[in-house]
Amino acid sequence: MATIAVKGTHDVYSDEAEAYRHIEDVFGSFCSLYGYREMRTPILEYTEVFNRSTGESSDVVRKEMYTFDDKGGRSVTMRPEFTAGIARAVVEHKLYATEDMPLKFFYVGPTFRYERPQLGRYRQFNQAGVECIGADSARLDAETIMLAVSVLKYLGFENLVIKVNSLGDDESRKNYRKALEDYFASRIDEMCADCHDRLRLNPMRILDCKVPGDQEIAKGAPKIKDYLSETSEKRFYETLSIINNFGVDYEIDDSLVRGLDYYGEIVFEIHAKSSTGQDYGALLGGGHYNGMLKAMGGPDGAGVGFAFGVERVYNVMKDNGLLEGQQGSLDVYVMPIGENMVNPAFELLTAIRNMGLAADMPAATAKLGSYFKKAERKHAKFALIIGEDELNNNKVQLKNLATQEQQEVDLDDLEDVLIEAFEEGHGDDCHCEECESKKGNE
Ligand code: HAM
Repeated sequence: MATIAVKGTHDVYSDEAEAYRHIEDVFGSFCSLYGYREMRTPILEYTEVFNRSTGESSDVVRKEMYTFDDKGGRSVTMRPEFTAGIARAVVEHKLYATEDMPLKFFYVGPTFRYERPQLGRYRQFNQAGVECIGADSARLDAETIMLAVSVLKYLGFENLVIKVNSLGDDESRKNYRKALEDYFASRIDEMCADCHDRLRLNPMRILDCKVPGDQEIAKGAPKIKDYLSETSEKRFYETLSIINNFGVDYEIDDSLVRGLDYYGEIVFEIHAKSSTGQDYGALLGGGHYNGMLKAMGGPDGAGVGFAFGVERVYNVMKDNGLLEGQQGSLDVYVMPIGENMVNPAFELLTAIRNMGLAADMPAATAKLGSYFKKAERKHAKFALIIGEDELNNNKVQLKNLATQEQQEVDLDDLEDVLIEAFEEGHGDDCHCEECESKKGNE
């Protein structure tokens, strides 16, 4: 059997891994600004968790879940999304009874869907998202959309299309369902086998069918906006007016129904376009939901949230040059000239790391030219060249690899010289002894 990664999964390392970390850090920082705290739920849940909430009519639950019996014969599923697991945890720990409402949780982690792998679509991918549970208002819906937009804008996205729609309350959806059943009943014989099931389980899912002929028929279907109750319509426009006041432009898309069953009231997706107008599709999706806590055996309680695919965001950022300067880099690359200099170089390397600077040296000695190539590949900022003659005089050569300026530095002054050179690098996250002791004195 070939030793390759499982189809639809991929290894993430170096530049790509650092970019993911950057995206996740920005996301986490914004979540904190909006009062969210982190929740980590298990990847594995009892299958029931998703059947009950994510929805028996959704493609995700019907066709895409990694479900199997464990050795004890219990059906378990590798999460295809986070919302259901978060709701399960809220109910299991009765957080609705012990914490202030709304509960606000963010999450990041691997998610699994058995889909056809294609560009930006994987079977194991990472989702980052939020759930705001236990309070219900247009303001919270608006705040959630604003958070999503803020994260993507901060990451550098300029051409975002924010698509919104309302799926209304229970009454609106009941009336709409009836209208869709009536419309599709007369055309169903021309439609795919899946749509036959969809008509029975939830005709709204037909609107998501990817078969071209079915899409043509779906175009003439009734629109949810004509079935919204007065309350739902009012709430939808209230949310839109809040986000509009905060400068978020949106597009009402009355064909947007989302692929998971738990949504009611507002739903949204954020699509990205390149500067030349290329549409990258949905980076992020979310909306308001009811009945999720109840489905898990808890009380009634609404929620609103979104999730984005970290891979999707990464691919578009990479394509649009939004990751420049995000690669990890070394502050100093130490270069021993000759075998005799390896031990002194290693001592200096350790001393530099203790100053709080990122440093490394080659595993084996080589010519200077090859050292410089390595330093370039590692995006190093300085080269520290250690030669026998200079070291005998207690000196080393320090070369700024951006300006190519080289200076001879007395070893006793090395720390001061490096610290001065990296003054800007001594930010809040610097852990060198000097900064730690300054922090201690504050
Ligand atoms: P979703 O639209 O199914 O919503 O997924 C959210 C995002 O996950 C998508 O916009 C996309 O970026 C990413 N994604 C989905 N499938 C794949 C895939 N196969 N490969 C790569 N990325 C993918 C949800 O999952 C909801 N739980 C969101 C939510 C949270 N709604 C309310 N709260």
